[in-house]
Amino acid sequence: MDYLEIEGDNTLSGAIKIDGAKNAALPLLASTILFKNEVTIDNLPRVNDVFTMLKLLENLGATTSFEENSAKINASSITNTTAIYDIVRKMRASILVLGPLLARFGECKVSLPGGCAIGQRPIDLHLKALEMMGADIVIEQGYVRASAPQGLQGATIVFDKITVTGTENIVMAAALAHGETKIINAAKEPEVVQLCEVLNENGIKIEGIGSDELIIQGTAGALIDVKQIRVIPDRIEAGTYLCAGAITNSKITLENVNHTHLFAIILKLQEMGFDFDLKENSITIKPASKIKGAKITTSEYPGFPTDMQAQFMALALVADGASSIDEKLFENRFMHVSELIRMGANIILSNHTAMVEGKNQLNGADVMATDLRASSALVLAALVANGTTKVHRIYHLDRGYVELEKKLQQLGAKIKRLKE
Ligand code: EPZ
Repeated sequence: MDYLEIEGDNTLSGAIKIDGAKNAALPLLASTILFKNEVTIDNLPRVNDVFTMLKLLENLGATTSFEENSAKINASSITNTTAIYDIVRKMRASILVLGPLLARFGECKVSLPGGCAIGQRPIDLHLKALEMMGADIVIEQGYVRASAPQGLQGATIVFDKITVTGTENIVMAAALAHGETKIINAAKEPEVVQLCEVLNENGIKIEGIGSDELIIQGTAGALIDVKQIRVIPDRIEAGTYLCAGAITNSKITLENVNHTHLFAIILKLQEMGFDFDLKENSITIKPASKIKGAKITTSEYPGFPTDMQAQFMALALVADGASSIDEKLFENRFMHVSELIRMGANIILSNHTAMVEGKNQLNGADVMATDLRASSALVLAALVANGTTKVHRIYHLDRGYVELEKKLQQLGAKIKRLKE
């Protein structure tokens, strides 16, 4: 297995390009199950979760090819409607094939995703919504067996909790359902918006895009003809590198960003003392004269994203003042805390809240990644720790960050990828 070796005390400079959004790419790839024709998806990030989804589509019978950052997928020839455990266990977002497969074929089997470091992450809301649309759902031998022999029927769905992939699953199921589906308390993340825009631009009438109430007119089973797609920039990758600039108090520029998706992150960094230059597709973060502590509460978009919580905790360690971080979405998304404490951080956890002291003297150590965003927080802390840090189990990072060590090297960081 690979690990990252990082020398501390870095100042960064220069510019890097941000890749396409993993969490937009995954539902878009799953939506190809609804398409009549081959489609090209551009700006696709070369991360393991995307490779896993392509493998899952191939296992179902689709043909795929992936050159540079562009993939061609033809799912018109799918015959197999079982998403097997061996693939699904690698990536929870595989559940995104459930809605499209059921809507198109009237039956499918999808393995339950299994456990995850950041929380139990149930899919009860996905299943309840599909039952509201007329599906019969049975859980047997670790699989969701779903059937709707007459096809899915449009319905009014009210999500008890806002769920990103739950909204995406039902939007895709509704696209081929009979009649109108209304989703109330829908997720509004930019990745959900892009999925709706792509479907809407290609013949699926969707009202309320970007709001928490979506109305989708189904085609009653007719597949969709789709034009070329370009994945939106990854706001979490961008936010992670903004934190790299912030924690090292450097001036760096990120290109290929959509800063309208970054408002909560930019505002929080401004609160902490940082300043920015915003241009059409780029953002430059500039050093703070004094890094202030912050009060952070994670919430659904457009609030402060849970996927940036770990990275801001690392940044809070070098602030002059104390910070509090309240994780509202996941029950166990503080796995990075114990590893940061091993680097000398003063953090006190109580239930969903972390109290983070400022001015920590961080020391390099051997640390272990536990989940995708926690891993990036350890890398950020290592950039400013005294001495050398080794971050192990970085396969977590490779799921969602394109060549993270190369991009940080491009910014001048002393970081290497080595073999255990
Ligand atoms: C998506 O996960 C993202 N993944 C996650 O990003 C992100 O952290 C999360 O949304 C929240 O923004 C992708 O888009 C592929 P949810 P998702 O359903 O859809 C509860 C990353 O780092 N819930 O919005 O699985 C759930 O337990 C990943 O890129 C139910 O109770 O998250 C959680 O507490 C990590 N029942 C809350 O809702 C359900 O049926 C939000 O989960 C579904 C969800």
